[in-house]
Amino acid sequence: MTIQHVSTLAVHAGESNHSYHSVTMPVVHSAPFVFHTTAELISVMAQKGGGNNGERVEYGRYGNPTVRTAEKKIAALEGGEDALLLSSGMAAVTTLFLAYLHPGDHLVITNDVYRHSRLFSENFLRQVGVQVTLVAPRVEAIAAALRPTTKMIFSETPTNPFLRVVDLAAVAALGRDHDILTVIDATFATPVNLQALSYGIDLVLHSATKYLAGHNDLLAGAVVGAAKRVQPVRALQGSLGNTLSPGDGYLLLRGLKTLALRVQRQNENGLAVARYLEQHPKITTVFYPGLPSHPDYALAQQQLRGGGGVVSFTVAADLMETAHFVDALQLSAIAPSLGGVESLVSQPALLSYYNLTPVERAEIGVSDNLVRFSAGIEESDDLIADFAQALAKIPD
Ligand SMILES: Cc1ncc(COP(=O)(O)O)c(C=O)c1O
Repeated sequence: MTIQHVSTLAVHAGESNHSYHSVTMPVVHSAPFVFHTTAELISVMAQKGGGNNGERVEYGRYGNPTVRTAEKKIAALEGGEDALLLSSGMAAVTTLFLAYLHPGDHLVITNDVYRHSRLFSENFLRQVGVQVTLVAPRVEAIAAALRPTTKMIFSETPTNPFLRVVDLAAVAALGRDHDILTVIDATFATPVNLQALSYGIDLVLHSATKYLAGHNDLLAGAVVGAAKRVQPVRALQGSLGNTLSPGDGYLLLRGLKTLALRVQRQNENGLAVARYLEQHPKITTVFYPGLPSHPDYALAQQQLRGGGGVVSFTVAADLMETAHFVDALQLSAIAPSLGGVESLVSQPALLSYYNLTPVERAEIGVSDNLVRFSAGIEESDDLIADFAQALAKIPD
């Protein structure tokens, strides 16, 4: 039968093994993998034709059964033919870039992306001769930046930290018309809220550290799409060695089974907190794609099944008053991640963008009073009560 629903796929997809009659996929802690006879070795090698699809491998740098099960589950969740897991979201970003971009090639990357994806493009890729253009996360800006040498369009949706939503059908059409690889970092969306591949996007990327794993306890990255498009990234990973460990593969697999439940709750919590903050006199702006005031609300309504758990907002306060408000929150720990079961909060000016000057921060819209909240799976009433008491501490 064909499974229709993400919540069912999250539990069952990829899980065909039942080794040792175990309900759950065991953690296979082995670096090399054995062949019973040389005839078996030759037959496996002949089948692989010198390549590697992550299935029957001889060495852990090329694949692992536990990790492979998680890859299959993620591929099914995204509606992709294949998925590759790597040791972090940044391993996924950088290995993908290195696999597809060569000196003389041109990359168009939207400017509201995870800081290190942007830094790697602006610094490292430019140094090795890749041309890089940063544009606003709008399709007209992307189209205007294309050149004959453009090989990749890369964006997040929703973006980090301003939750802009990118028109995926239009981006995919640009890619098709100009023979350009389109890549979407869908970390904030998750496959519960969006399947970017269904819009014709070529590859979807995740920091699986966030919602996919969901428990703030591991680092992982994923690249999903047609097998022939994932393959160059898998081949390069075999040389770079940035593989996911079997233990983390198991934790990810375990986390994935509750993905739909968690994200549904995080959608509810994100929306409830965004609505609460928007009407609060001490809050100046709320960035959340599920609010009608968001510039991409209409697109978000069409494209996303939920607004997600991240809410960014500015407080009517200066840098240190905002910091005191953040300190006063009792249910949200101050930490630079998102998507886990525990709510987290960060003040980007003092965390991810600490080493920029106020002028540099202003250029990318990161003001002193900007706060990014990542809803966990707590009860929204409790989260709102916590915001209420912390906001009450901001001086008039
Ligand atoms: C949208 C997005 N992409 C990629 C990354 C990098 O992922 P990781 O921290 O797993 O390397 C992050 C991390 O915050 C992110 O938010």
